[in-house]
Amino acid sequence: MSVHSLRGFRDLLPPDSALFTQIEAAAREVFALYGYQELRIPAIELKELFVKSTGDTTDIVEKEMYAFTDGGGREVAVRPEGTPGMVRAYIEQNLSQTGRNAKFFYIGNMFRAERPQAGRYREFTQIDAEHIGNAAPFADAETITMLVKLLEKVGVAGCSVEINSLGCAECRKAYRQTLLEYLRLNVATLCEPCKGRVERNPLRALDCKIDGPALAEKAPRLSLCPACAEHFAHTQELLKISAIEYKVNPSLVRGLDYYTRTVFEVRTTALGSQDAIAAGGRYDDLVKSMGGPAAPAIGWAMGVDRVALLLKDKTKIDGSPAVYIVSASAQAQSQAFRLLAALRAENISADSSNLTLSLKSQMRSADKSGASYALIIGEDEIKAGTVAIKPLKEKGEQTTVPVADAPSHLKQLLRG
Ligand code: HAM
Repeated sequence: MSVHSLRGFRDLLPPDSALFTQIEAAAREVFALYGYQELRIPAIELKELFVKSTGDTTDIVEKEMYAFTDGGGREVAVRPEGTPGMVRAYIEQNLSQTGRNAKFFYIGNMFRAERPQAGRYREFTQIDAEHIGNAAPFADAETITMLVKLLEKVGVAGCSVEINSLGCAECRKAYRQTLLEYLRLNVATLCEPCKGRVERNPLRALDCKIDGPALAEKAPRLSLCPACAEHFAHTQELLKISAIEYKVNPSLVRGLDYYTRTVFEVRTTALGSQDAIAAGGRYDDLVKSMGGPAAPAIGWAMGVDRVALLLKDKTKIDGSPAVYIVSASAQAQSQAFRLLAALRAENISADSSNLTLSLKSQMRSADKSGASYALIIGEDEIKAGTVAIKPLKEKGEQTTVPVADAPSHLKQLLRG
């Protein structure tokens, strides 16, 4: 049997894995600043949850979902996105009744059977924020601002924020007919899946990866009802107060069905066609339509894999230990082992190779480890109660210190 991972699935190796952790840690700090709490949701849900929320005419549900019948005969799906699970949890766990703001985040892997390419994977990580139960434009502006602040914090530069309003169900009712007429006239130019979708969900054709951009450019524009127009104008005013640069893109429709009013995407030109690094919007009707209370909501998800691709060459992550311990004789192995523990107890990162190997082999590993210092213990050192400290990165003399002083001495050296 040859062992290999599935197409579109990847192993994350150091230092990339550390970059992911760094991005996720930054997100946790930002979420704490904005009053968001973590919600961990299952990776597998009933398939119906995604069909009803993400939408049965979306690419995600029609073509990309890992769905199967489980041993109990239930139709289930591995989550392609987190919002439906968050909404399910909000309803099932009565999270509207806590008396606190329902501001939740999750960090987790999502699964979509898309055609893999750079920046597009079948398993990818999203950092996601959902604010449920707040209809005011302040929530829209805060959410978008939080996303921009997070991107700034992790060091992503040169992105553009695009926003649009998809209106409410009322605005869309009138628009549906106008759009349908336009699409019927252009049906010959549509790809096969979109031909089938036009009558059921005309808006989806505008988000088609194949013919969407050309169609959206010339499509009739949605006109917002006065309340939605006011909401959109107020959101923009607040974004200006927050000093967030954005562009209104009337063609932005998003590829998921639940959106109402404000939608947004953060794009970069640095990733070729996979240009969206984060996206989201309002979903004012979803919670109610899934059987919950009338709770307007807004949220976004950021693609960690894409952000990591952007930062990869710019961020130096050094996972090397500060100190490498080497035992120069069989008698010194236990003392070396004890010293490793003593250094770690003092918060000094320390490592060794297999302490039973030859001195030469251990020194070779020390050189490759990236550590700043090697600590060498042999028979002479044991007898004298000392340890030898050898600089590995810079030229310098080997020194000998009493073993009990090694941690404080090293701290001084490491501080430079
Ligand atoms: P989405 O636009 O489908 O929205 O995904 C959000 C982000 O996830 C994208 O902008 C992209 O960075 C990343 N992403 C999506 N698919 C892939 C992939 N195959 N490989 C790598 N990265 C990918 C949502 O998922 C909504 N749940 C966002 C949301 C939350 N709306 C409201 N609340």
